[in-house]
Parts: sequence; C-alpha cells; structure tokens
Amino acid sequence: MKIYILLVITFLTFCFPGKVASNSSSRPYDAIFNFGDSLSDTGNFLHSGAIKFPVIGQLPYGRTYFKHATGRCSDGRLVIDFIAEAYGLPFLPPYLALTKDQNIHGGVNFAVAGATALDSEIFIEAGLGKFLWTNDSLSTQLDWFKKLKPSLCTTKQDCDSYFNRSLFLVGEIGGNDINYAAFAGNLTRLQAIVPPVVETIAKAINELIAEGARELLVPGNLPIGCSAFYLTLFRSGNKEDYDERGCLKALNGFAAYYNKQLSQALETLRQKNPHARILYADYYGAANRFYHAPGHHGFTTGLRACCGGGGPYNFNISARCGHTGSKACPNSSTYSNWDGIHLTEAAYRYIAEGLIYGPFTYPPLKTSPNKIA
Ligand SMILES: *[C@@H]1O[C@H](CO)[C@@H](O)[C@H](O)[C@H]1NC(C)=O
Ligand SMILES: *[C@@H]1O[C@H](CO)[C@@H](O)[C@H](O)[C@H]1NC(C)=O
Ligand SMILES: *[C@@H]1O[C@H](CO)[C@@H](O)[C@H](O)[C@H]1NC(C)=O
Ligand SMILES: *[C@@H]1O[C@H](CO)[C@@H](O)[C@H](O)[C@H]1NC(C)=O
Ligand SMILES: *[C@@H]1O[C@H](CO)[C@@H](O)[C@H](O)[C@H]1NC(C)=O
Ligand SMILES: *[C@@H]1O[C@H](CO)[C@@H](O)[C@H](O)[C@H]1NC(C)=O
Repeated sequence: MKIYILLVITFLTFCFPGKVASNSSSRPYDAIFNFGDSLSDTGNFLHSGAIKFPVIGQLPYGRTYFKHATGRCSDGRLVIDFIAEAYGLPFLPPYLALTKDQNIHGGVNFAVAGATALDSEIFIEAGLGKFLWTNDSLSTQLDWFKKLKPSLCTTKQDCDSYFNRSLFLVGEIGGNDINYAAFAGNLTRLQAIVPPVVETIAKAINELIAEGARELLVPGNLPIGCSAFYLTLFRSGNKEDYDERGCLKALNGFAAYYNKQLSQALETLRQKNPHARILYADYYGAANRFYHAPGHHGFTTGLRACCGGGGPYNFNISARCGHTGSKACPNSSTYSNWDGIHLTEAAYRYIAEGLIYGPFTYPPLKTSPNKIA
C-alpha cells in the first residue's frame, strides 16, 4: 500500500513538473474546481454507474454541441462550460472519469447529477430514499477534492499560489434538497429545509477556504416556479396561484426566500474571511429575464420543455425526455427548458453571459478575456 502511494506521488510529481509554479500569464484564473448537481455535472453521474443505462447517456442529450451524450443534463453546454470557455480553460473533466495521465491543472469537476447539499442519510431517514439518484452529496464531493489535492499541488506554498489563481464554484447545490422535500408534497414544510442547506453550503465554503481557496462563486436557485417540472407537479386550478407569465408564485417566492438566506450567509462568511473573495451568482435574476420576456431573448416557446412526453408543459413523469413516449423539439435554441427539469444550452449560455459580463455576480468575477461563442 505504502509503495503504491509512493509510486503515485512520484508519478504525479514527475508528470506535472513545475506546473504548479506560478505562471504570470494574463489569464485571470488558471483552474476551476466545481461542486454541484445536474446543473453543472459534466459526466460524474454517468460514470458513477448509479443507474445502468441512464437516459442522459444517450441522445438527444448532448445533441446540440457535442453531438453525442456526455453525461450533461442538457442538449449541450452548461453554465460551467461557458465559464471555462470565457476564461480560456478546458471543459472541466469529471472527477470519476479521470485517467492517470490526464492533465488536470485546468481544474476538475466534482458535481454529480442528483446530488444534495445535505448528506443523503438525512433523506433516507426521512423516508425519501426512493427519490435519491445518488449519495454523492456535497461532503462526498469535498472529500474527493481533498483526496485529489496531492496530485494538484504538493507543498503548502505551491497549493496556496495555485489555488490563489483558481476559481471555486460551490453550486448550484441545494436545488435537489428542495426537490426531494417538495416530492414529499408539503410546500409549507419546505422552508424548514433552508437553514440546514444554507449552513451546509457555508460549511463547505469554510472548508475550501481552509484548503486554500481564495475566490469562490456561489450560485443560488433558479426561479423554480417557472420550471415545467414544478408547473406539472404543482398544477393548480386556481388562477391566483400563477403570475402574469404563468409561473407558480409560491415556488418562485420560495426560491427568492432561499436565495436571500444564502446571500445573507455569504455576507457573514465574507466578514469572517476577509482574505477570500466570496461571490454570489444570481441564477434567479439571470434566468428571470428570459422568463419575463422570452421573445426578447430568442426563446419563443415560453414554459414548455423541448424534450418530453406531452402535457401542457411537455413534461410527463411517465415519459420523461429520452424515455419511450417522449420526443425532442427540432430546434432547442428557441426553448429555455430542455427536459422539464434542466435548461437548454441556449438558456445556460444566456445565464453564463449574465454572470461573466454582469450584472448577475456580486461582487463581479474577474474580467474575462474571451467572448463566449
Ligand atoms: C503560462 O501558461 C501559458 C499557457 O499554459 C503558457 O503559454 C506560457 O508560456 C506560460 N508562461 C510562463 C511564464 O510560464
Ligand atoms: C445510497 O446509500 C444507501 C445506504 O447506504 C443505499 O441503500 C443506496 O443504494 C445508495 N443509493 C445510491 C443511488 O447509491
Ligand atoms: C494571491 O494573489 C494576491 C493578488 O491577487 C496576492 O496579493 C497574494 O500575494 C497572492 N498570494 C499567494 C499565496 O500567492
Ligand atoms: C404540512 O406541514 C405542516 C408543518 O409541518 C403541517 O402542519 C401540515 O399538517 C402538513 N400538511 C400536510 C398535508 O401534510
Ligand atoms: C404520459 O405518458 C404516458 C406513457 O407514455 C402516456 O400514456 C400518457 O398519455 C402521457 N400523458 C400525456 C398528458 O401526454
Ligand atoms: C434554430 O433556431 C435559431 C433561432 O431561431 C436559428 O438561428 C437556427 O438557425 C435554427 N437552427 C436550426 C438547425 O434550424
């Protein structure tokens, strides 16, 4: 065992000689490390083998940009892909698919589709285990990062200067905690999950700062009341429950409440960690623009999902995108919603632009040298 570890260390230092030494390129970030769920998973769930043949491993997933399924829960690129592109970095390789000789110095992705902020035991104990896609919650993803760290940098000085030039994305995470709690069917009970979720995210941020992270981007939740999935699940006969766009008011109100609690926790973290930059990414505000005036942003199809099995929002729980009975629209670029739950590449690009070029990141990200394609 000892010999093996020694070999690995020798191998790693040999293969990445001096890569950690500070490189005074003009690039604002040398690496990105991402933690999260299906909004940013670039292949971990698929590689985890949690489900034998998940639909995200087949077309039409991936059809738009990659032309094959990559394990991303979309037709194409995700917000994290556009951020990597904008900063001149490679698409983040999923941790679970890393090969021994892979160059990982541009960063690694630890996000897993279905992941929760809270540990999965909490959901299993609450009788919600049957909804869980994965047990690879935020704390598991942090453990993976700590395990990988010796192959990223060796001495404290190396790590400090490398992570000083790295961007850490903590989230979006917590959306599934809300989903699983909402499946249980009691919206009034949803608020109870907010404090522990926010606390868990704050704890993860503290741990990453202790590991050397100096710039952390923390996304909030999307306007879930506009999601085809939630609109179907909580369909109401009462007109009063909907806003002028047809979104569910109570769920959007809940997402806004959650985001406010998260932002407040970040403010506390900033005061305790003046040497770190903790940025809030307003996914809600960035996405709200195309829900508010979809036509102005090239989305002509409103709240319906591109890929699904029918119903008023083209989301059918028994014929979800990729399953028998579902069909994908011919051109996903006019849709913001991809499969009912996740968004299209077009929508993610739009959100990413709002984060990178402003004004939906506070304080703002470092200036990007590239315009995203
Ligand atoms: C910094 O990194 C860039 C891109 O990897 C490389 O082209 C450049 O030569 C490096 N500069 C130094 C001073 O090492
Ligand atoms: C999660 O963990 C529980 C308890 O250890 C196990 O029964 C379950 O199969 C796991 N679920 C997944 C998706 O791995
Ligand atoms: C981190 O970067 C800041 C400026 O961006 C610099 O002042 C500081 O010395 C750097 N710290 C390390 C450990 O490289
Ligand atoms: C929902 O949760 C609240 C608070 O825990 C409880 O008072 C109420 O009875 C629950 N309603 C249903 C339908 O379970
Ligand atoms: C949902 O899918 C099932 C299974 O394919 C189908 O029987 C049902 O008609 C669909 N519902 C709607 C509203 O299209
Ligand atoms: C899809 O729609 C967009 C926007 O209307 C258009 O620019 C693009 O050419 C279309 N793509 C295909 C393959 O039809």
